Amino acid sequence: MEDNLPAHVRDLRKWLNQYSYEYYVEDNPSVPDSEYDRLMQELIAAEKAHPEWITPDSPTQRVGGKPLKEFTKVTHEIPMLSLGDVFSEEELLDFDRRVRQQVGDDVTYVCELKIDGLAISLTYERGRFVLGATRGDGTTGEDITNNLRTVRSLPLTLPTDETIEVRGECYMPKKSFDKLNQQRQANGEPLFANPRNAAAGSLRQLDPKITAHRRLAVFLYSAGTFNREKITTHYGLLQAIRTLGLPVNPESRRCRTMQEVFDYIKEYTEKRDSLAYGIDGIVVKVDSMAQQAALGHTVKTPRWMIAYKFPAEEVVSRLEAIEISVGRTGAVTPTAVLTPVQVAGTTVRRATLHNEDLIREKDLRIGDRVVIHKAGDIIPEVVNVLTGQRTGKEIPFSMPENCPECGSALVRLEEEVALRCINPKCPALIREGLIHFVSRNAMNIDGLGEKVITQLFEKHLIHDVADLYKLNFDELIALDRMGEKSVTNLLEAIERSKQNSLERLLFGLGIRFIGAKAAQILARAFHTMDQLAAASMEQLTAVDEIGEKMADSVRTYFAKPEVAALIDELKTAGLNMTYLGPDAPAPADTPFSGKTVVLTGKMEHFTRTEAKKEIEQRGGNVTGSVSASTDLVIAGEAAGSKLDKAKKWSIEIWDEARFLDSLKD
Ligand code: IVH
Repeated sequence: MEDNLPAHVRDLRKWLNQYSYEYYVEDNPSVPDSEYDRLMQELIAAEKAHPEWITPDSPTQRVGGKPLKEFTKVTHEIPMLSLGDVFSEEELLDFDRRVRQQVGDDVTYVCELKIDGLAISLTYERGRFVLGATRGDGTTGEDITNNLRTVRSLPLTLPTDETIEVRGECYMPKKSFDKLNQQRQANGEPLFANPRNAAAGSLRQLDPKITAHRRLAVFLYSAGTFNREKITTHYGLLQAIRTLGLPVNPESRRCRTMQEVFDYIKEYTEKRDSLAYGIDGIVVKVDSMAQQAALGHTVKTPRWMIAYKFPAEEVVSRLEAIEISVGRTGAVTPTAVLTPVQVAGTTVRRATLHNEDLIREKDLRIGDRVVIHKAGDIIPEVVNVLTGQRTGKEIPFSMPENCPECGSALVRLEEEVALRCINPKCPALIREGLIHFVSRNAMNIDGLGEKVITQLFEKHLIHDVADLYKLNFDELIALDRMGEKSVTNLLEAIERSKQNSLERLLFGLGIRFIGAKAAQILARAFHTMDQLAAASMEQLTAVDEIGEKMADSVRTYFAKPEVAALIDELKTAGLNMTYLGPDAPAPADTPFSGKTVVLTGKMEHFTRTEAKKEIEQRGGNVTGSVSASTDLVIAGEAAGSKLDKAKKWSIEIWDEARFLDSLKD
């Protein structure tokens, strides 16, 4: 392809690729940004005049793909294993002992940073980037090629004729993360808890245009298919990957003793906060490939490498205030407002205090110096108070007796630690209920964040969830920070939500004790809202996993006249009130349980999607291509290369009649 291009177009591509590499991989650009932009404009203009010059690997084509309906599954020819982890020096010494027992005393390790992102696999066919995939369950991942193409540090072409598969981590640099969350805050969208979640959320976008705005990056650290002829060590492999122009983390180091390994860990524990990306540990790998092979792997993890995970980070901050908020169930929760501090890579400003008892137990006072850590490295918590640093000016705290939003008296229900506002008309309850209704696991209405809901509520445009379906363009465009495009998108999202399956609506209504899972179970058991509303205690408790408490709450909920009125209103608005999901959980023993199945050719009675659904409902896994892990191929009319491959590898093959038969059992 490239060979047919005129020389000046080839030059433009070469320069743009080189400058991108200098900028994104080496962090050392040799030309100003304006020069890059100028060359890019020139290439765009040339391709506009000659569309035949556009190939998928042109630097202009990073955001070429159209939005997808769903991701295609990808089978990893060589499984992507996971990594064992340890949390102390002793455990690392145990690992070292096991290694030496197996391969003798002459061991060199490579220490690498454990990048906090998502494992990915990249395939280049004769130097062209053709497939990017997530790790998934290690055997089957998802095809995220178009999203990965938008990652600027990832070259679309490599100077090689070979076909290779390299593996690494896709992550979001701390700067990009902070910027993204600032934007989201301004738009009233939920914030990402950490760069890792943000990277995951960005890679899972069906529209690559969104991913392109998220500024992700990659580091490669291993390979699947790769010509290892002249390579005998892991360090050599890293260099070979780097030589191809792929980004490899520059901090890796060979260590000849465990002392050197510990020094590396200490050094990077200290440097951690100053790195441009998040790391959650150090990976220690046996360098020699011969020794790696001798050590082998278990079903899940290689025996020649291990991750040392950093302990949850703790830092000291000052408790500036305690804020009280009222949740959708009326529960009143205190939150610590802190002097902002960096913990495990992100800025912490607030920490949950759970309830009044916790404040009393820890004797927390406003002005106290407190130790903060992140539970599971995500949710900030107050660990304890540095009482020794008190000045005497700290102010003890007591919970209010009245609801901060509606003023009604708070109550402590039996056996509960939390105080509650039990006024059903309390604006906090209603507002929080609305926020819950539109949230991702409920009605999933994109573009209706907390900020927008709060505005709508405060302007009296919505009082209950049915009002959401009465909103119009003029009302929405009048809100802060809403443009025509976002209003149109929002109205579309609201309209789309009407088609949701029953369990989403059920969960969204916020019936006490009915979480997402219980909602799913109830929807599947009763099928329609009316049948659920009419169900007796006996009928409800007869359902697996629905206990007395849940059943009672459902009965109480539907017995309220205002609930009946609300449901009627929602019906009139056109909301679906029926369960649309799969009918029953996959039974344990079917002809497909635990099997990896490939569909090929055309069937008379099913579309591909229908056949896939039937198999998945019966516990099977349908993948796109025939590989060593395929158990069964179902071949319709005019099946081609997949069928040939299955025959060649003696994989079990069924025709459509046999497939139909198997569904009857
Ligand atoms: S080697 C057998 N090296 O950590 C798996 N993994 O907790 C090979 N990770 O799934 C992994 N930085 O996503 C390796 N320098 C590094 C890494 C790294 C981050 C991730 C990877 C893996 C996870 C395991």
